[in-house]
Amino acid sequence: MNSSIDTFIRAEIVSFTRDPGDADLPQPGSLAHYSDGLLWLKGSRIHTVGHYSDLSHQLPSDSHVIDYRGKLIMPGFIDTHVHYVQLDIMASYGRQLLDWLNDYTFPEECRFANHAHAEALSNAFLDEMLRSGTTTAQVFGSSHPGSVDAFFTACQKRQLRMLVGKVLMDRNAPDALMDGISGIADSERLIEDWHGNDRLGYSVTPRFAPTSTKIQMDAAGALLRNDSTLWLQTHLAENSGELDWVAELFPGSQDYLAVYEEAGLVGPRSTFAHGIYLDNGMRRRLADRGANIAFCPSSNLFLGSGLFDREAAKQTGMAFTYASDIGAGTDLSGFGTLKAAYQVGQLGGQPLTAWQGFYGLTHGNAKALSLDSHIGQLAPTYEADFVVIDPNSTALLTRRAKHCTTLGERLFALMMLADDRAIYETWAGGICQHRRDL
Ligand code: GUN
Ligand code: ZN
Repeated sequence: MNSSIDTFIRAEIVSFTRDPGDADLPQPGSLAHYSDGLLWLKGSRIHTVGHYSDLSHQLPSDSHVIDYRGKLIMPGFIDTHVHYVQLDIMASYGRQLLDWLNDYTFPEECRFANHAHAEALSNAFLDEMLRSGTTTAQVFGSSHPGSVDAFFTACQKRQLRMLVGKVLMDRNAPDALMDGISGIADSERLIEDWHGNDRLGYSVTPRFAPTSTKIQMDAAGALLRNDSTLWLQTHLAENSGELDWVAELFPGSQDYLAVYEEAGLVGPRSTFAHGIYLDNGMRRRLADRGANIAFCPSSNLFLGSGLFDREAAKQTGMAFTYASDIGAGTDLSGFGTLKAAYQVGQLGGQPLTAWQGFYGLTHGNAKALSLDSHIGQLAPTYEADFVVIDPNSTALLTRRAKHCTTLGERLFALMMLADDRAIYETWAGGICQHRRDL
């Protein structure tokens, strides 16, 4: 993208400079809100953001200003845990985690041995993601290294900021999906080819403790020790059957988290999906290491896994992020994830404000992934990844908005009622990558 090209967009703009807190109103100084704002891009980055009336006199006389008054611009949504290879098994009926993995997930992931399939699904997934307003995700491939090459290639073409990894699995899975000794060598090759290339990063990806031997997890830990810029993604304490299985497989470990600690997998760039069944001791250990739990509410409801405890996370200082966990999750849209997070919260007496929700989906998720110097805010020098939201995308939303008097009420109505139809445009790297009405 030519760094000298100016783009000017006039719209309402909302971005969080820091955590707004839990109160009904955001803490002073945490919210940048311009009801008639201007977003000024230079190439792939944000040049400046402010009130239109303050900035309009600085615009060159022949500037074309894209006029999106009536629409709302926010930073692109971030999804910290998602499986692109499971797109086609979303909404597969039935039962709980371990059966669902055997009945649907593993057979589906076998299809990614075929490179053409991996390419087609990479592009289909990115189309869906951008249509839902998500501009960055931390993504599981399958255990085939080609599934990750295909995904990185598709992301690079679109100039997206994305984290991906090849699943490591050397036991308790179908033969066609197990990698054995080659899994680490394949990961090293992918790291060499892709990590730090343009906006792409590698996330070391042991699926979860039951499908990796101690030898494989130790080797994954060695990769992380060797390069502190790598990310780590896996699953932790999602389901009670899974807990029993881990206890049986690792009788010498104090608890599930200790299995990962002993392999050197718990650090500031580690994301553990779910973390429903943790005690406060485990939460504090995660907090001490700066790791985060990806809260995947629509997945947890779909698989009947359980209710994530946000309050306990906050009290112990454990970071958590918001994620779709497609294909167990039922919604690629960030709005859908927040709606499910609100509902899970309500069942535990822990309602979620729209401030917390949208901060989490943007700046909060970026921070937990150590990407907050690049994305998650609309501010000078940040990468130009953002969504243009149409608050009138449905007649119902328009009716509801008429009863709203504050920004907080409008954001909450979006969180509960909006879906991908409200994503008017999605921009990434200064490029409009999705427009609803095309
Ligand atoms: N645990 C291990 N693998 C998976 C997976 O693919 N999805 C979910 N939800 N949990 C897992
Ligand atoms: Zn998952």
